[in-house]
This record gives sequence, C-alpha cells and structure tokens, in this order.
Amino acid sequence: MSPDFIDALLSGQRADAQEVAGLKLPDGWPDAHDSRFLSFRLRQMRERPEIQEWFVYAVVQPDGERQMIGHAGFHGPPGVNAVKASDAVEVGYAVFEPYRRRGYATEVVGALIDWAAREHGIRRFIASISPENEPSLALVRRLGFRHIGQHWDEEDGEELEFELRVTDDA
Ligand SMILES: CC(C)(COP(=O)(O)OP(=O)(O)OC[C@H]1O[C@@H](n2cnc3c(N)ncnc32)[C@H](O)[C@@H]1OP(=O)(O)O)[C@@H](O)C(=O)NCCC(=O)NCCS
Repeated sequence: MSPDFIDALLSGQRADAQEVAGLKLPDGWPDAHDSRFLSFRLRQMRERPEIQEWFVYAVVQPDGERQMIGHAGFHGPPGVNAVKASDAVEVGYAVFEPYRRRGYATEVVGALIDWAAREHGIRRFIASISPENEPSLALVRRLGFRHIGQHWDEEDGEELEFELRVTDDA
C-alpha cells in the first residue's frame, strides 16, 4: 500500500484509492481499528520512505475485479519485532471474514517469508499472537513456527511469541 493509496483511503476518496492501487475495496473497510493502524503506517512511511517495502501490502484476488481480501506485511525492517532481534522481522496479517479458510493466509504469509529470505537474506521470522486466537495459532504452527516465549502488549494484552528459522537450503 503506497502512501497515496492510504491517504486517499483515510480521507474517504475511495474511488481514487481503488484507482491508485488497481483493486476493489471491501465495503466497510477500513474499520476504526484498521484506520488507526493505517494512519500510523502512513506517518512511518512518510518519515522513512526507504523502509516502505517492509510495511503493509493489500492482499488481492488476481482475477476479475481484483477484490481486496486482506492485508499483510511486516512490523518494520529487520530489528523491529517482539523479541528485539536485530536479524529478525515480524509478520502481521489479516484475511477478511468472507474469504477465510481457503488457504489465503497460508499462501500470503508463505510468500512474505520467501520474499524477505530471497531479497534480504532474512532467516528469522517472529509472530506475536493472543493465546485465544486459535486460527492464527494454527496458521503459524502449520507454517513451521515454534513457541519461544510471551510478552504483555499495551494494546493487545498477553501475546505468545513464535519463531521460524529458515535454513539456506529451504
Ligand atoms: C488468522 C487468519 C489470518 C487466517 O486466515 P485464513 O486465510 O482463513 O487462513 P488459511 O485458510 O490459510 O488457514 C490455514 C490453516 O490455519 C488453521 N485455521 C484457520 N482458521 C482457523 C479456524 N477458524 N479454526 C481453526 N483453525 C484455523 C487451519 O489449520 C487452516 O488450515 P485448514 O483450513 O486446511 O484446516 C484469519 O482468521 C484472520 O484474518 N483473523 C483475524 C485477524 C488476525 O487474527 N490476524 C492475526 C493476528 S496475530
């Protein structure tokens, strides 16, 4: 998501946002939570345009009207993650409700990991998940992440920390 896309979206210029990004927005999105999240990301991207590629991507169905079905990305460049490891990045993701349980998150998070490994040589990935978030816990376990600890998040409460280490021949 480019700063222009987020800017248009947050100022209610939905047609412009759709045109800039070449996608169809879901009705009712962004909600209040995602609007706060995107406005935070917009500030970060404007302050440091060079780290934009780590932030948030729209997940779009490739055919038809290019419906947007979720979003995913990293919490920031290497070093920005729950365990403060300088060589690790942390993944974040959401698939909108009507599109869940079709394998989209598996494909998207797998693609983010492949991209970071290939383009930036990242070998260590982190995910922070509420102990009640069964779908997300199942997703990361299926991708090969292992539970390594927990922390308290000001906004989200208790979160379990998961790690995936990718080997060079993976
Ligand atoms: C977590 C989330 C991204 C999963 O998206 P998804 O596209 O439905 O995931 P997938 O279809 O790739 O599911 C992969 C596997 O995860 C597990 N899973 C997914 N949803 C599940 C559910 N509701 N209950 C149990 N397991 C679930 C299953 O093992 C599933 O494989 P299966 O469908 O073959 O059994 C989605 O539920 C979501 O957006 N939730 C709200 C936002 C969120 O919690 N984000 C993560 C914050 S840490």
